[in-house]
Amino acid sequence: MKDTIREMFPILREKINNHPLIYMDNAATTQKPQQVIESISSFYKHQNANVHRGVHVLSQRATDLFEKAREEIRVFLNAASSEEILFVRGATEGINLVAASFGRSQLKPGDEIILSEMEHHANVVPWQMLARELNFSIKVIPFHDRGELDLEAYKKLFTSRTRLVGVVHVSNVLGTVNPIKEISAIAHDHGVPILVDGAQALAHEKIDVQAVDCDMYTISAHKAYGPTGIGALYVKENLLETWPPYQGGGEMIEQVEFGKYPLFSGLPYRFEAGTPNVAGAVGFAEALRFIREIGYKSIQNHEKELLAYGRERLLSIPKLTLYGDAKEKTAIFSFLIDGIHPLDIGSFLDARGIAVRTGHHCAQPLMTHYGISGTARASLALYNTKDEIDYFVECLKEMVKLFI
Ligand code: ALA
Repeated sequence: MKDTIREMFPILREKINNHPLIYMDNAATTQKPQQVIESISSFYKHQNANVHRGVHVLSQRATDLFEKAREEIRVFLNAASSEEILFVRGATEGINLVAASFGRSQLKPGDEIILSEMEHHANVVPWQMLARELNFSIKVIPFHDRGELDLEAYKKLFTSRTRLVGVVHVSNVLGTVNPIKEISAIAHDHGVPILVDGAQALAHEKIDVQAVDCDMYTISAHKAYGPTGIGALYVKENLLETWPPYQGGGEMIEQVEFGKYPLFSGLPYRFEAGTPNVAGAVGFAEALRFIREIGYKSIQNHEKELLAYGRERLLSIPKLTLYGDAKEKTAIFSFLIDGIHPLDIGSFLDARGIAVRTGHHCAQPLMTHYGISGTARASLALYNTKDEIDYFVECLKEMVKLFI
C-alpha cells in the first residue's frame, strides 16, 4: 500500500514510548483517516441539529446527511431498500436488537437456534440471556483446529424446531472468513433465517447481502475506519415488517395517547427511538467512501501479502504457535509463545511502540476449543507494512532470547 495511504491517518505519526507507533490492534478498532475526522468536525461546525423534527435549515441539513448516510450504507451492502437499514450503536447492539425484537417475540420454549463455536461474545451472550428467559436451546457448530467451521456437523444440527442460525462472517481471533453464502443456503434449505455478524468483515471483505442471501447482517463503523458508537443492522424487509419495536421513545411513533397503545412509525424509524448518532452516521458514510475510493481489491491484495509474509516470519520464531490457519482468512495473527504469558508479550511490545491485544478477545468458547485462556493477537489493516512486521518479529525474537 502506498505511503500516501499512511499519510491519511494522522495518528500513525504518533510516538509511543519514544518509538513510532506500530498499530496492530485493528480487530479491536481501526484508526481513522483525516477525511473521516474532518467530516465529523465539519458536521458539528456547519450542520449540527436534531434530525427529522425541525423545519429549520440546520435540521434539514442534518436530516439530509443522516438519510444520505443510510443510503450510502444501503448501496455499500447492496440492500434492496434503505428501509432495511437500521442505525445502531454497533454490531453488538445490532445483535441485541435481533434478540430483543425477533427473538423475544418469535422464539418459544423448546425451540432451537444454531450459533458457531467461533462466535464473539456479542453473538452468544444476548442469546444465552434470552434462552434462560424463554427456554429455547442453543446448538453449536464446531470448528476444525485450523479454524474452519465443520459444515458437515452444521448440517446435522437442524431439526423441525430450529428457528435461527447466527454466524460470524470473519473471526476476530482466527481471521477465518466463513463461507456465509453456503451457510446461508443450508439454513434456507431448512426454512431457517440467518443472522451474520459482520463486525470484522467490513474493513476487509466486499459484502453483498443479496448475493449471499443472508436475512440479517450487522456491522460496526469503527472496525472499518469510521467512528465508534455507530453501526448498522440490515434486515430483509419481509422479516422486519413482522418484528415489534426494540426500544420505545421519540422518533419511532405516529401517535401517543394515554389510555391507548402507541401507533408506531413505519420502517426503519420504528426501530430508531431517540436522537440518533448523527455525527457518527456522517463519519460512517465517509469511512465507506474512503474504502470505496481505495477499493477492496487493493485492500485485499495488500493484506494478503502481509498475511503470507507475516505468517512465514512468525513461524521462524522458536516455540511460537499460531492459531487459525484457514484457507480463507484475513491478516490476523493469534499466537502464543511457550513459556511466555501473552500479557508479557503485549507489555514488551508496547514498550517498543507496538500495539497488539492480549487475552480471550471476547471469544471464550473459541479459547476453550484450544484449551487455552487467551492469546496475543496482531490484527493488521490496510496501513500496515512489511517493515512493521519485520520490527514486530525482531522484538518477539529479542523477547524469546530474554525470557526463555
Ligand atoms: N471484539 C473486539 C476485539 O476483537 C473488541 O478486539
